[in-house]
Amino acid sequence: MIEYKINDDIKPGELDNFFQGWKSPPSIEIKEKLIDGSDLIITARENSMLVGFLTAISDGAMHAFISLVEVLETHQSKGIGSHLIERAVDYFKGYYDIVLMTDKDKGAFYKKFGFDEIYGMHIRDFKYRLNPSPLVGEGKGEGE
Ligand SMILES: CC(C)(COP(=O)(O)OP(=O)(O)OC[C@H]1O[C@@H](n2cnc3c(N)ncnc32)[C@H](O)[C@@H]1OP(=O)(O)O)[C@@H](O)C(=O)NCCC(=O)NCCS
Repeated sequence: MIEYKINDDIKPGELDNFFQGWKSPPSIEIKEKLIDGSDLIITARENSMLVGFLTAISDGAMHAFISLVEVLETHQSKGIGSHLIERAVDYFKGYYDIVLMTDKDKGAFYKKFGFDEIYGMHIRDFKYRLNPSPLVGEGKGEGE
């Protein structure tokens, strides 16, 4: 059975099995900082093993940004990601904006929870990019 918990403690080392496929996964120091710096952490555990988690940052009143949603590959497509998102949306109920960034092919997944596409701007540090092009590291972005 999967147990979900809001603001559970995560040890940085528990994130070692996540970020699969990332060219440059976060270091242990970054993992520690992102855990400490998140305003909301929701965990999914199976027999106490972390199998999924969601992090978000927020001003505590109007705006929330869901920064990471990750489910172990072995546990995907079992409803865990959906459950984490539903819990986060419920947690921030009444906020003016709940925002997340995702790949275009996952848009349909998030629409199920009420998310709409928006126009947005961002700066991404390409060292964390999935499937980087040969331009990575030269300060060039997509299409350049
Ligand atoms: C996206 C993710 C969080 C979904 O978690 P999950 O527990 O597998 O999700 P659920 O079981 O609740 O729902 C599964 C649905 O997610 C959607 N989905 C998952 N991965 C997808 C992908 N790569 N492309 C498109 N849709 C995807 C599908 O609609 C899928 O439906 P299906 O099971 O009928 O195929 C999980 O696949 C994951 O951790 N992926 C790697 C990290 C990532 O991409 N995080 C999201 C960044 S915003």
